[in-house]
Amino acid sequence: MAAYPAMSTKNAILKLDDKEIVLPIVVGTEQECGIDVRKLRDETGYITFDDGYANTGACESKVTFIDGEKGILRYRGYSIEELAEKSTFIETAYLLIYGELPTAAQLSTFKARILDNSQVHEGLRIALSGFPGNAHPMAVLSATLNTLGCYYPDLGTNERTHDLAKFDATAAVLMSKVRTLAALAHRSKEGEPPVYPKPGLDYCSNFLHLLFSQPNADYAVHPEVARALDLILLLHADHEQNCSTSTVRMVASGGANLFPSVSAGVCALWGPLHGGANQAVIEMLEEIHASGDDGSKFIADAKDKTKQVRLMGFGHRVYKNYDPRAKIIKAQCDKVLKVLGINDPLLAIAMRLEDAALNDPYFKQRNLYPNVDFYSGIILKAIGIPTEMFTVIFAIGRMPGWISHWKEIAETPKQKIHRPRQIYVGNTERAYSPIAQRS
Ligand code: ACO
Repeated sequence: MAAYPAMSTKNAILKLDDKEIVLPIVVGTEQECGIDVRKLRDETGYITFDDGYANTGACESKVTFIDGEKGILRYRGYSIEELAEKSTFIETAYLLIYGELPTAAQLSTFKARILDNSQVHEGLRIALSGFPGNAHPMAVLSATLNTLGCYYPDLGTNERTHDLAKFDATAAVLMSKVRTLAALAHRSKEGEPPVYPKPGLDYCSNFLHLLFSQPNADYAVHPEVARALDLILLLHADHEQNCSTSTVRMVASGGANLFPSVSAGVCALWGPLHGGANQAVIEMLEEIHASGDDGSKFIADAKDKTKQVRLMGFGHRVYKNYDPRAKIIKAQCDKVLKVLGINDPLLAIAMRLEDAALNDPYFKQRNLYPNVDFYSGIILKAIGIPTEMFTVIFAIGRMPGWISHWKEIAETPKQKIHRPRQIYVGNTERAYSPIAQRS
């Protein structure tokens, strides 16, 4: 394959006062074009202004491709629909992290490494049990993922060549222990005694066991439930330069090792405009249900700019079409509820909201469609996962994506620290006034 981004034969011309600046155009493998402004400030003193980065390509990446207008999502070139149908979360994690689908031998080694790492150090488990009972599990997860690095000083040294040489071990530690830490955060909150991972179980069945088994009674994992959870994790595994992944890349660009980088990713994911939306969707549906509204009042409020209300699980910075992950999750949602014999009134409300919004000029004009979080919460609720754990599930799913992006940064020769500029709009220089003279 030719080296990308390729330089186009076309250029962009920027006219500033009476000077013309020629800006090269770069082209990616999917023919995405960008105006290369890397020399702009040096040549003109100007910077580009792009609040929220909606038009800024901050890096080159080979991990994930999204065409938001067409509703396309591909991990390493493979469509999300095909991976959802034929692959598993762990195989897809390997694909994201290492760039290719694994051979049978590679997959078996990867799985064995993950299995070997499922237990956390007793000291960390005890430390985790000291968090207050009302701590949000995302805060606990972020704190303990960073602390995890203290138990592996040789894996997270901030010395790039060394950390890359140990990468396989670090990736396995994080892939495996994020699930154990998440389950411990839940159990600690519930005041439940710990249970330990079981070697015979696959990734998701083991997670369900860690969440729901009791020391004297094993939780019976329904294969369809394990499959639904696996699918949710797979669908969340990467999403190119989203808020949390950009955070991971930002932290990594300063030279930090994987542990603090993914811990920062968890913090960024927590917000309701990002990963916290799955929790916010269920809370919204419950509120609508409790108020007796059929959804129409809520839709009206979401359109009313004087009210600080949004239809959670709708809209996306990149997708201006139906989020392909939402389609897959919606189908899985029907299946899981049927298998578990659950008739959840929240599903009926969600479907009514979707139908109303898709036929409403406000949502149509703004290209607002359901995103991945609109239906995932209903599945998680059916499985018995508490609402506060929804974003934690997202974090477990996103772990391979964060790891692959950290690797991409770490392996980039002459990697630059990420350091945006700003347009300063604060006070101009003024003299310090002594405290007695201040009103
Ligand atoms: N409900 C009502 N109106 C909305 C919604 C919504 N969910 N989303 C966007 N809009 C409106 C905005 O008010 C704005 O209207 P205006 O042009 O009249 O001012 C217009 O659509 C554009 O919205 P922006 O906020 O500028 O779009 P942006 O790309 O910055 O935001 C976001 C995307 C944050 C996802 C937004 O759509 C939103 O808040 N959605 C609800 C939260 C959510 O579901 N987040 C999960 C995203 S997916 C993920 O991270 C996994």
